[in-house]
Amino acid sequence: MSEAHDFDQYDFLSADSSNELEIDPLAGSGTYTVVSSLPSQVQHAAEAVAGPPIPPASGPFATVSIRCTVNGEPVEVPEVWVADSLLFVLRDRLGRTAAKDGCGEGECGACLVLLDGEPVLGCLTPALVAEGSSVTTPEAYGDGDEVSGALAAHCGAGCGYCLPGIGLTTRALLARQPEPSEAAIRESLSGHLCRCLPPGHFIDAVNEAAQAVKRRG
Ligand code: FES
Ligand code: FES
Repeated sequence: MSEAHDFDQYDFLSADSSNELEIDPLAGSGTYTVVSSLPSQVQHAAEAVAGPPIPPASGPFATVSIRCTVNGEPVEVPEVWVADSLLFVLRDRLGRTAAKDGCGEGECGACLVLLDGEPVLGCLTPALVAEGSSVTTPEAYGDGDEVSGALAAHCGAGCGYCLPGIGLTTRALLARQPEPSEAAIRESLSGHLCRCLPPGHFIDAVNEAAQAVKRRG
């Protein structure tokens, strides 16, 4: 089921794979479609909450220390409130600001990070579930790999706000499926919103990154 909204946005699950800009992003108007099924990143966030044991804490203002690795570096974060999001801890406590704080409510995908290799939305994932886990933020890659190069080549005309999260989703996708179909690319990116560019730019970028990774071997 889908529902039409007036907004300057594009939907990765729509049938239109055109590279043509049909809506002027500066005009502040247009039409996009919201698909009511949950994107996989939200499902992963929900699984993360239900999965690993949460450190003991009691009372609404209880805090705990969490230990995890961030981009391979062991970190310990004291006084994490039970309601702190993983995004808040990464950005405001640890200074890893490449994951963006967009909508703050699971709609845009700008906050996406990898938790033990799985894409999760940092804004919806409690920081406590990172205890004992491996967290990967966009800083782990910088601008130096095939995905960064392909996104810069195909999506460089946009503002770039969505690109760190889309880059991580793309890397997780290519780790699972080295040669993804267009349908798999669209499903993978369906949790991301881009205000600047239509889906075709990102599909081309993912395909180019897949070919580049394959050539590297
Ligand atoms: S900031 Fe998390 S989905 Fe938008
Ligand atoms: S939001 Fe501007 S490039 Fe995607």
